Amino acid sequence: MNDLTTNFCGVILTNPFVLPSGIITEIPEHKRAIEAGVGAVTLKSLTYHKREGNPIPRVWRYDCGMINSVGLRNAGIEKGSEEIAKFIEENKKIPVIVSLFATKIEEFIYLIDKIVPLEPAIIELNLSCPNVDDEFGKPLGMERGAAGQIVKEVKKRSFKIPVLAKLSPNVTNISEIAKSCEHAGADGIAAINTVGPGMIIDINKKKPVLGAIKGGVSGQGILPIAVRCVYEIYEAVKIPIIGMGGVSKWQDAVEMIMAGGTLIGVGTATYSKGMRIYEELKKDLIIYMQKQNIKNLKDIVGIAHH
Ligand SMILES: Cc1cc2nc3c(=O)[nH]c(=O)nc-3n(C[C@H](O)[C@H](O)[C@H](O)COP(=O)(O)O)c2cc1C
Repeated sequence: MNDLTTNFCGVILTNPFVLPSGIITEIPEHKRAIEAGVGAVTLKSLTYHKREGNPIPRVWRYDCGMINSVGLRNAGIEKGSEEIAKFIEENKKIPVIVSLFATKIEEFIYLIDKIVPLEPAIIELNLSCPNVDDEFGKPLGMERGAAGQIVKEVKKRSFKIPVLAKLSPNVTNISEIAKSCEHAGADGIAAINTVGPGMIIDINKKKPVLGAIKGGVSGQGILPIAVRCVYEIYEAVKIPIIGMGGVSKWQDAVEMIMAGGTLIGVGTATYSKGMRIYEELKKDLIIYMQKQNIKNLKDIVGIAHH
């Protein structure tokens, strides 16, 4: 029997596929991924204040994926935590990962103290959003000292809930940052956030397509960067990894697992293939496992390193 059941930081998932943060914006809407058979959902990153996001257009598709500058559009912690409480209550069968973004450690502490009582399965710290640099400067997690410090403070308050650090590929040495997060007590790593920023110019309008001019690149085109990042992180740490970035078919998922991902995030591909992509991936992965005589996916996590 080929089994997709996966244990990630003590949380049991029926399959390794995860909806990454921000692919769906409204909290109740995340139910669509659950109904489609995903293994876990990550909610849109929540911030202290309500945020309207960047000027429109905020997303733009291109041949190899997508560019976005959503700019953390969300309801803010007060309203957001109410919506999250309701969502967790109504969706007990699937692990819910709550994603938090802050620009100061004190803000992260405030967010954590609000979220921990809601008992999400996992908390993910977005240390890597590229779309708010102009507003806040470089995200805190782009520098290993700051990333570790945030994780350390959060871990003091998260009790038994596993804490993940979501990292950016837009750094010189992603494994150093992962190591510092592990050292500070992180239970796992999520990688990668979007690549860039990038820019696409509308040659008819003769100006950049996005309202915010620049944006993070996701989808198919970033797969090799994501695989390389996950590979490097796997070499550097012992904690498990959610590998994401450009996965759109089962072969990509297998690559990501072989690089070192225990779970696989599939985000941008849901825009073109629909939420049914999760069922397809599960079916195709099982066929691959049968052909290769792989009983459990953990047998091939990181196998490309051997
Ligand atoms: C429209 C959009 C919004 C996103 N918003 C967030 C967010 O709020 N927080 C976050 O951590 N990542 C966010 N991301 C990044 C994704 O979670 C993911 O890391 C990235 O898109 C790579 O995976 P993919 O190529 O499968 O989409 C966003 C991505 C997209 C396309």
